[in-house]
Amino acid sequence: MQPADRLLAWYDRHRRDLPWRRSRDPYCIWLSEVMLQQTRVEAVVPFYERFVARFPTVEELARAPLDEVLALWSGLGYYRRARQLHAAAQRVAAAGGFPRTYEGLLDLPGIGPYTAAAVASIAFGAAIPVLDGNVARVLSRVLAQAGDPSGRTARRRLLAAAAGLLVAGRAGDSNQALMELGATLCLPRQPRCPRCPLRGGCLGALEGAPERYPAARRRRRPERLRLLVAVVERQGRVLLFRRPDASAVLAGTWELPWVEWGGGEEAARALADKYGGVWRLGAAAGEVRHGITYRDLAVAVHRAELEGSGEVREGAEAAWVDALAGLPLSSLVRKVMAVFKAAP
Ligand code: ADE
Repeated sequence: MQPADRLLAWYDRHRRDLPWRRSRDPYCIWLSEVMLQQTRVEAVVPFYERFVARFPTVEELARAPLDEVLALWSGLGYYRRARQLHAAAQRVAAAGGFPRTYEGLLDLPGIGPYTAAAVASIAFGAAIPVLDGNVARVLSRVLAQAGDPSGRTARRRLLAAAAGLLVAGRAGDSNQALMELGATLCLPRQPRCPRCPLRGGCLGALEGAPERYPAARRRRRPERLRLLVAVVERQGRVLLFRRPDASAVLAGTWELPWVEWGGGEEAARALADKYGGVWRLGAAAGEVRHGITYRDLAVAVHRAELEGSGEVREGAEAAWVDALAGLPLSSLVRKVMAVFKAAP
């Protein structure tokens, strides 16, 4: 058997039963691939199921208000994906269906080379190889290629190797087989080579130390930030602000008022500078640690009051809400509220 057939035979026996693998509907494949772009499979499954239950078709997604889409997305992170998903759904619905080619897919908001290749191959059977982090690791080992897989030459070689492993008529499964191998056997630290269908031709394994490939990228050290988050409660309602649509991260989501904080007395002043109004800080309710891309946040949660009738700066979009469900909130807000509610 050729390596490509061995890979596929292994996939047929060992693949995980994931909800999007029960469908070839391009909408379901596209949705799953967008959710999987920066999020692990186990985390995606419940979000995917809720999303498809609420929006079973691309037309229904296109018709939904953006806020509802963001609310269903909240907790998955990288909210730009949800905005682009909604924009792409509107384009697809207006065009009467998904483009069936790699190039056509690439033209949609939020679809890059990886997602276009994944959807074209899985939903439409196009013989186009995919390269994500898992696939790059598997093939760097097969080729014993040490270089950074995102470099141009390395990438071209890896894509050629992936193309050589596609089985005609089942390209989507071949691609998913490589992803699956990376997720379940060809692990970063301790690859399970004895069970691997590509072992016979894997130069990294033949050398005896496949985990050497690809060479580890130098990691940026996360920046540590200390924040103070103010929870202002009135008659059971909590004050939230909407992040501007132009924010680099979490655009359009609702957040608790916050400032960077050095631990001193200046926080009330900083809140006033940022949001307007006159703030009074109350007792600390606890502390939350939160990691987001390249940032390690230490968040002090404080009860606070906003004096007077609660006016804030013109242009700041504020809302007093009595139940947080249904709003697009970041997981940090949820963590902070959990600590706040648990405080005496
Ligand atoms: N990661 C990205 N796409 C995937 C897929 N289709 N199956 C499993 N993991 C994935």
